[in-house]
Amino acid sequence: MKKKFVTGVLMAGAMALVLSGCSSTSSTTTAGATTAAAGKVITVGFAQTGSESGWRAANTESMKTAFSEANGFKLVFNAADNKPEAQIAAVHSFINQKVDAIVIAAVVTTGWDDVLKEAQAAKIPVILEDRTIDADPSLYAAWFGDDFNKEGKTAGEWVVKTFGSTPTNMVVLEGTTGSSAATDRTTGFNAAIKGSGIVQLASQTGDFTRAGGKTVMEGFLQKYGKTIQLLFAQNDDMGLGAIDAIEAAGLKPGVDIKIVTIDATKDGMTALSVGKINYIVECQPLLGDQVAKTVKDVLAGKTVEKMQYGVDGAFDQAQALAALPTRKY
Ligand code: AHR
Repeated sequence: MKKKFVTGVLMAGAMALVLSGCSSTSSTTTAGATTAAAGKVITVGFAQTGSESGWRAANTESMKTAFSEANGFKLVFNAADNKPEAQIAAVHSFINQKVDAIVIAAVVTTGWDDVLKEAQAAKIPVILEDRTIDADPSLYAAWFGDDFNKEGKTAGEWVVKTFGSTPTNMVVLEGTTGSSAATDRTTGFNAAIKGSGIVQLASQTGDFTRAGGKTVMEGFLQKYGKTIQLLFAQNDDMGLGAIDAIEAAGLKPGVDIKIVTIDATKDGMTALSVGKINYIVECQPLLGDQVAKTVKDVLAGKTVEKMQYGVDGAFDQAQALAALPTRKY
């Protein structure tokens, strides 16, 4: 996966032709598309993963704001409830609707080749946001998102700094199985903790949801009880669900069980500020403006970077307290 994270450039000249071709056909469907034919409104189909987390809610809002009518777009939005088949069906539907461009936040990395080839044949450019996929890079124009491997590595480095070579029993709440976010965070984290005293008792998916995190953590607690000393939750929501389970088991989150998560949503940062989480690595969800600019550039035939990364920070308790008053999501 990491090898695809190489920055490259794409001459999108062909896409300018795509824009004119697609706009004229979309003009038959809506008033917005009629304006598109005149080059004023761009119809974009956005295939979102679902609404699994606070991060996702912030990402959806950012995308809807950026792809607003005021900014020259007509947005056709679909949230696939984290079901890969439903997401691919949504992309098929965007192609049938002859949108000008398609944006995808892929639930999983696999299964994209056929529908992307279909979009390419229909001369509709595809821009990926948030998650990467395994398809041939020639099938999409650009990707904009966060470096999940680096996020996992940063979380792992905090673990090593905190526990060093002291034997420490850890459980892991993984994100959605098959998503680049889960796979790359696992890879980065495991590389960082290699050779440390961390002993992984169990690792299971909580599907990036609060309910999933709570249920899986309940199982971990039943099986391993007080021997658990550390939890790595691959997003805030699963960590917050796990906190409920830990408290229900009569243990103190952040004290009896140290917790490191990823995202830095307001809810996660609030838990960090009161010591229930010990460290959070940021994953920036406010990607809308950059993605919208990329879509416009691709359609205008401009040169765009193939892989574009957002910048992420990391927070301990004091840093969370300082950041919370101005936290946007
Ligand atoms: O792909 C980004 C991940 O997806 C976020 O960390 C998680 O909260 C979301 O659901």
